[in-house]
Amino acid sequence: MEYVTLSNGVQMPILGYGVYQVTKDECQRCVLDALKAGYRSLDTAQSYYNEEEVGSAVRKSGISRKEIFLTSKVWIEHYGYEECRKSVEESMEKLQTDYIDLMLLHQPFSDYYGAWRALEELYEAGKLRAIGISNFYPDRLIDLASFARIRPMVNQVETHPYNQQVLAKEYMDKYGVQIEAWAPFGEGRGGLFEDPALLEIGAKYQKTAAQVMLRWHIERGVAVIPKSTHYERMVENFNVFDFSLSAEDMEKMAGLDKKESSFFSHYDPAMVEWFVQIVEERKTNHDSRKEHKNW
Ligand SMILES: NC(=O)c1ccc[n+]([C@@H]2O[C@H](COP(=O)([O-])OP(=O)(O)OC[C@H]3O[C@@H](n4cnc5c(N)ncnc54)[C@H](OP(=O)(O)O)[C@@H]3O)[C@@H](O)[C@H]2O)c1
Repeated sequence: MEYVTLSNGVQMPILGYGVYQVTKDECQRCVLDALKAGYRSLDTAQSYYNEEEVGSAVRKSGISRKEIFLTSKVWIEHYGYEECRKSVEESMEKLQTDYIDLMLLHQPFSDYYGAWRALEELYEAGKLRAIGISNFYPDRLIDLASFARIRPMVNQVETHPYNQQVLAKEYMDKYGVQIEAWAPFGEGRGGLFEDPALLEIGAKYQKTAAQVMLRWHIERGVAVIPKSTHYERMVENFNVFDFSLSAEDMEKMAGLDKKESSFFSHYDPAMVEWFVQIVEERKTNHDSRKEHKNW
């Protein structure tokens, strides 16, 4: 495994396994399969409703907790100082652990400064080994990185060949924030797994389009957390450390950038109102689990 070193010196595997849209029923089996395939970094979130299953799989695997890098994310309704602190304690309970390796603020809306202060304190208390953010594009990233007491160590954003985040990455590099790709395959949207350029590059190295994408991320220094519920694909996605892309192929990959989201824009007012609406709805109905869009 290769690692990235975060600004506080913590080492994070550059390749992990993500469990967004992995159902509660399947999650324990999937995480056990991922650990068997060799993954030692797992990415979950409060809003995925599967932290318990991730925790029980880790426990069941018998692998020492210290060997596993656990990431979770605080959802917006738990923002604000008090709520965030409480929710992180709850996440730790669900994950059956007394520390989390990386805790992220999931979205750049609502009282993220209050929530960030809670993460800073939990970090200083040794409950969180690293803290970061997700979906903070350059405007919000510069804001938090400049005015918070502790600078975020990671920013997890949509990144794949059709949305390469060149500018966002430049700002993350400038502020010493490690970029991590969510949807490293863009969930295959727009025919990404069948893109002729990826298939052509893959044929040269006897690798699949998925492996070419992951290798490309890794060579750019982007941490990745691909998701699959299929064991053979987990293994395929893990086998990306035995080849490297030529400069010419990296250039070809750069040419695939459409510079726009395959999902939604965090700058779309309708989307921001949608985020506000789910927070409001959950305030009035704690059990409501509104259908998740892509976050
Ligand atoms: N911070 C955020 O806001 C945010 C948002 C989205 C995601 N995430 C995180 O990022 C992780 C990855 O993103 P994602 O799950 O949205 O998308 P993704 O990893 O880009 O793509 C997952 C899709 O690709 C398929 N797939 C995986 N490996 C494949 C292969 N080798 N060949 C063909 N198809 C393959 C999977 O199908 P099967 O499962 O059927 O194999 C699934 O449909 C998530 O699980 C989550 O942890 C974070």
